[in-house]
Amino acid sequence: MTNRFLFCLGSFFLMTAPAWSQTLVLRADQPAAVINKNIYGQFAEHLGRLIYGGIWVGKNSAIPNTNGIRNDVVAALKELSIPVLRWPGGCFADEYHWRDGIGPAEKRPRRPNASWGGVDMNAFGTHEFMELAEMLGADAYINGNLGSGSPQEMMEWIEYMTSDSDSTLANLRRQNGREKPWRVPYFAVGNESWGCGGNMRPEYYADEFRRYATFVKNYSGNRIQKLAVGAHDDDYAWTATLMERATKQMDGITLHYYTVPSGVWAHKGSATRFDEKEWHATLARALRMDEFISRHAEIMDKYDPQKRAGLMVDEWGTWYDPEPGKDMGALYQQNTLRDAIVAGATLNIFNNHSDRVRMANIAQMVNVLQAMILTDNERMVRTPTFYVFRMYKVHQGATRIPVELSAPRYASGESSIPAVSASASRDAAGKIHLSVVNLEPDRSAEVSTKITGLQIRRASGEILTAPAINSMNTFDKPDVVAPSPFTGYKLANSQLVLDLPARSVVVMELE
Ligand code: AHR
Repeated sequence: MTNRFLFCLGSFFLMTAPAWSQTLVLRADQPAAVINKNIYGQFAEHLGRLIYGGIWVGKNSAIPNTNGIRNDVVAALKELSIPVLRWPGGCFADEYHWRDGIGPAEKRPRRPNASWGGVDMNAFGTHEFMELAEMLGADAYINGNLGSGSPQEMMEWIEYMTSDSDSTLANLRRQNGREKPWRVPYFAVGNESWGCGGNMRPEYYADEFRRYATFVKNYSGNRIQKLAVGAHDDDYAWTATLMERATKQMDGITLHYYTVPSGVWAHKGSATRFDEKEWHATLARALRMDEFISRHAEIMDKYDPQKRAGLMVDEWGTWYDPEPGKDMGALYQQNTLRDAIVAGATLNIFNNHSDRVRMANIAQMVNVLQAMILTDNERMVRTPTFYVFRMYKVHQGATRIPVELSAPRYASGESSIPAVSASASRDAAGKIHLSVVNLEPDRSAEVSTKITGLQIRRASGEILTAPAINSMNTFDKPDVVAPSPFTGYKLANSQLVLDLPARSVVVMELE
């Protein structure tokens, strides 16, 4: 099915519902904080088929690879300009001992993956991860083991990776094939220490963080940003305690929030079979990210008014029930147009909080939760979420432009949410990018855009939409949800009017 045909189908659908009218003001004369490129980060845990199968197939695999790493997956991921990649977990991080994953592959121990099941053969360790990060051009974000490791183990891992000295550990790295040290700009002290990372109280974790962070050292010119385990969802007490007791020792604090359609972990909802009510509920839950960031940031402001420490949302995304017939622990789920809408609206929230949010890592990069790529042996497919990340990469490192939007409400039963979400930025070349999401499943939106302090002469755009709210890309039909040029706008006398189709993500480039 071609994109043109899909667009026609979409247009037919739109004719059934009257369009919303709304106004959007881009304050180009009031530039705000730079959008940290790391907001477009990814997360790769030893979980399900993410590392083994999705990334790592081994040198002897029939699947084309470079030193065991899949060529097709790397080539696709490079389209996203991934700025930073978090590894090895997640819950797995607090049971991972780095020495298991270095040296000759045949001598590496096989350990149970106690968090997610199965046995980890440790074929993918520090050297393989760093090679992957280099292939992608991404910075390494290493998540250290606080839960079952010692400060000494943490300190030695960092020395092994980053020291250029004549020390025994630096020489061991050389012996294992890497002469020059790697750069490790981000290092987290534990993961979810309130849960799988040790079930700690915030007071206890704050002390542990201060102790371990002391031994997260800078060797040979490497500068590490030390990240403390933060809260999940609305656990504001955790953030307050950490900020009160450990602000000085940290460069950032994390936040985890997953969108579960039902809000009930035991019955989350299906990734692909859902009705309009569940579409609305999912988007309403995803939009709560804005409230969580605002409230955690408010607490951070109290202890860190200069905004020195960043809020790093290093796990976010949709989480559905496991695919019927698939391994429960593997967290494999399909990805539909609904996930693209969640991604677009959430990335707009991060952009709009660029003064405090300095990193975000969607969970997870391949084959797990809200993935960019799905694989099935030698086959691979780009998800709708992948395309949103590709469209939005123009915001990486650009200066945020405040957006004022008078969006009507999209209601379902008692609940109502803004029908449109938006963010904008100006890049180093002076181009403005405006990303707009229409959350309404069957109503288009006419958006009249006013840009202050700038004359717009040229516009172009790209759109992601699909015939149905649960349209998806499969291995047999990989291009059902794919971006196409957007022509539904009028530009006259620097006034831009967008005719946004229902259930769509649009990114405009303005000059
Ligand atoms: O992303 C899956 C899991 O979710 C991570 O391992 C953990 O940190 C979180 O609970």
